[in-house]
Amino acid sequence: MSAGTPRRRRPAAAAALVTVGLVATGALYAAVGSMAAPATAATVVSPDLIKPGEQLYKEGCSSCHGLDLAGVPAESVGKGGARANGPSLLGVGAAAVDFQVSTGRMPVGAYGKQVVRGRSSYNDEEVAALAAYVASFAPGPAIPSEQDLDFKDANLAEGGELFRTNCAQCHNFAGQGGALSNGTYAPAISPKSPRHIWEAMLTGPQSMPVFADTTVNPDEKRAIIKYITAIKSSPNPGGAPLGRVGPVSEGLLMWTIGLGALIACTVWLGAKAR
Ligand code: HEC
Ligand code: HEC
Repeated sequence: MSAGTPRRRRPAAAAALVTVGLVATGALYAAVGSMAAPATAATVVSPDLIKPGEQLYKEGCSSCHGLDLAGVPAESVGKGGARANGPSLLGVGAAAVDFQVSTGRMPVGAYGKQVVRGRSSYNDEEVAALAAYVASFAPGPAIPSEQDLDFKDANLAEGGELFRTNCAQCHNFAGQGGALSNGTYAPAISPKSPRHIWEAMLTGPQSMPVFADTTVNPDEKRAIIKYITAIKSSPNPGGAPLGRVGPVSEGLLMWTIGLGALIACTVWLGAKAR
């Protein structure tokens, strides 16, 4: 019996050790997580912008998103506007407002199958004011800073890899865009505004998924932006790009046309010889 005691104690000690280990890891993880979070989750709101933002919001956005930003149910939006009732803007963050308003998507004009890019009805200051006002209600993803968007040192090859695994299925391999289900589409990605690319990833407009910093970290976001900029500015050494549908389909097209012409020639020569 006395020999069994230490043996019996060992499993208990092991279990205690594992528990302590797990608790410590959890605590460490939570500490690190909460340390890293403010970089993007907290929104720096300039108080001077909130007041003018409130005015602009009431005039241009509250009819669809509500004076309290909680959204508006379908039936309370005017006749025929049943589908244009806006969702809650609580916690969408300055990034979503900046993306939606400066790409001219908001305020929604005609609501069809999807809200599309257009000319913005607000200037940069007004967009900043609207973003500050909305962000003052609840924290959400912030507008990226210049350092966030500095992709000079980003890894281009990694960016290509990430783009192909995360974005190409909707936006095509060259970011040219493509059709999605239900008559919606993913638009072509313009390399002109890294800020909008960042914000689209961070906020996931409409059917686009959100690529939070936990899934695609800031370095990876910069790599993706660098890749998009690179493919969009690369020349087409092989001649006409054919929509950059890819070497296989481009090759297939050339085979069909080229072989077709050869066969036509053969048939014609054969017919002449007879
Ligand atoms: C005519 C109605 C209408 C008006 C006016 C309007 N919105 Fe919207 N808004 C919508 C609808 C509908 C959606 C949802 C689009 C979707 O996902 O299909 C939306 C989505 C958004 C989103 C994205 C929310 C998210 O979850 O990412 C933001 C941000 C936004 N609106 C901001 C604004 C701002 C700021 C204004 C004023 C400048 C404005 N909207 C004016 C109808 C409207
Ligand atoms: C499931 C399909 C899907 C995936 C995956 C996807 N997107 Fe999108 N993306 C969309 C749709 C749909 C829109 C249009 C949303 C809108 O108009 O509000 C969009 C819009 C955008 C825009 C805005 C373009 C403009 O017109 O201003 C950018 C930039 C963008 N996506 C980048 C990306 C990047 C980068 C990735 C990969 C990390 C990605 N998307 C992954 C569907 C997708």
